[in-house]
Amino acid sequence: MTGNKLEVVVVAENTVRGAGLLGEHGLAFWINANGRSLLFDTGQGKVLAENTRHLGIHLGKLEAVAISHGHYDHTGGLHTVLERSRQAEVYVHPAAFHAKYSRQQAPPHRKIGMPRSDKVAVQSGGHDVIWTVQPCEIFPRLWVTGEIPRITKFEDAGGPFYLDRVCTQPDPLADDQALFVESANGIIVLLGCAHAGVVNTLEYISRVTGRKRIHAVLGGMHLLRASRKRIEATGDALERFQVRVIAPGHCTGPAAVAYFWNRFPSRVKECATGSRFVFQ
Ligand SMILES: [Fe+2]
Ligand SMILES: [Fe+2]
Repeated sequence: MTGNKLEVVVVAENTVRGAGLLGEHGLAFWINANGRSLLFDTGQGKVLAENTRHLGIHLGKLEAVAISHGHYDHTGGLHTVLERSRQAEVYVHPAAFHAKYSRQQAPPHRKIGMPRSDKVAVQSGGHDVIWTVQPCEIFPRLWVTGEIPRITKFEDAGGPFYLDRVCTQPDPLADDQALFVESANGIIVLLGCAHAGVVNTLEYISRVTGRKRIHAVLGGMHLLRASRKRIEATGDALERFQVRVIAPGHCTGPAAVAYFWNRFPSRVKECATGSRFVFQ
């Protein structure tokens, strides 16, 4: 992206900034890299069409849609996107199609996987599907990570996630991936839920790119149930990578968001539906 423009607009998120926009529990980023556009996640699908229309974003022009992981709040708009964008390629990890559950105090446990209509939309054969087990370049210098190695001791998937209805088989969320762009200022990272762990994700991107500086980290950090120690260690990593723009959203959780605002007052930005970020 050297010398070029990268624009990122939050088109679905739990909170809203701006009249006429709608919020939902979920996340979707629209990304424009030198006139080529893609979507990273789709939210639940309840607000995507309305918000993109309101923001003047044309889904029909998307060249790709990349999926961070298979949870419903990131994939529920896939059928809408693929209906409107006939040529869009889909970048997704095979494990995103597994059944996924969140354990409750008592059964029935909650189904949180990709809705059926979205699985059908991807698997119907109308769109090219690129399986992202390894790092994968979508546009020049714009990548998804594929599977992220889990190396830290203090990070986990962030919740009681399982692959089966009775919740006996833990879901390792191997599908979890981030999107990153190599810019002149450093790497720009977009997170879906970061079930692999924010620090694991940043370490892996640093290793893959050979870069020690990360310019921006936007999106869901899934620290809702995290200990103070884990939140602090995440802050230490943001410091270590000299992150200049920190925009925690979606599933980051209020304690972690407050911690980042206090520790990095001039670097933290709001990540709400309607937030817009421009990087050179
Ligand atoms: Fe999420
Ligand atoms: Fe998730």
